[in-house]
Amino acid sequence: MPEQSDQLQIPRHVAIVMDGNGRWARQRGRPRTFGHKVGSSKVHDIVEESKELGIEVLTLFAFSSENWKRPKSEVTFLMDLMIQMLKKEIRKLEEKGVQVRFIGQRELLPEKLLKVIRDSEARTRNNNALILQIAASYGGQWDITQAARSLAGKVARGELLPEQIDEQTFAAELAFSDLPDADLFIRTGGELRISNFMLWQAAYAEFYFTDVLWPDFTVDEYHNALRHFSKRQRRFGQTGEQVSG
Ligand code: IPE
Ligand code: IPE
Ligand code: MG
Repeated sequence: MPEQSDQLQIPRHVAIVMDGNGRWARQRGRPRTFGHKVGSSKVHDIVEESKELGIEVLTLFAFSSENWKRPKSEVTFLMDLMIQMLKKEIRKLEEKGVQVRFIGQRELLPEKLLKVIRDSEARTRNNNALILQIAASYGGQWDITQAARSLAGKVARGELLPEQIDEQTFAAELAFSDLPDADLFIRTGGELRISNFMLWQAAYAEFYFTDVLWPDFTVDEYHNALRHFSKRQRRFGQTGEQVSG
């Protein structure tokens, strides 16, 4: 751990868009899937470091709602990779007190992956050293839409009045409504966009974009992001004087 780490402000919830696997592989004359494979091997250290630092929630964007549009062979590879990764890591995660959760449109995921997801969630549900959320078949627009549908159902059944819908009741229907919103939003791979990740829950996140491609993302790079986060003044609409005073 670098010496500066004792001065780090530790975010409660870190969200990471792990982007750049395909380009990393192409730069080496290898197929995109090779980039995914190497990229997946970087997850372990980031999870471990998050736990060591006392971060409460780490959400990793593994597969977006839009990624279903990729070639079928790549989609299949990514689904199989998630299965392999979970099978390989689950025992260690379980022992280290990590709680694993999946967020996203589950009904689109293949049954063999769902089986491993259900097993991982059941085995780690009482753990509390770190909550590791894997966003798979996830999109912020999907999340907001399913929340709206759920509220509409409650109104239709007479359980809720439209005027009772406010930010709190809406947020309660979203994925991971029991967890804090994202504090730090990291995107690797150089693109300056959200790509439909956490549209609601990143409302007041601090953004950190780096050109580093995900397979090159190290614990040192992670510390860079955390150092940047530590220097930000989070005002949440207030003035700087109000916040520091
Ligand atoms: C991110 O890397 C992984 C997924 C989206 C599943 P990409 O596959 O998007 O890599 P680039 O952006 O093409 O380099
Ligand atoms: C975002 O990356 C999704 C994940 C990292 C899982 P993409 O590579 O899919 O994003 P776009 O298509 O470049 O916006
Ligand atoms: Mg990409």
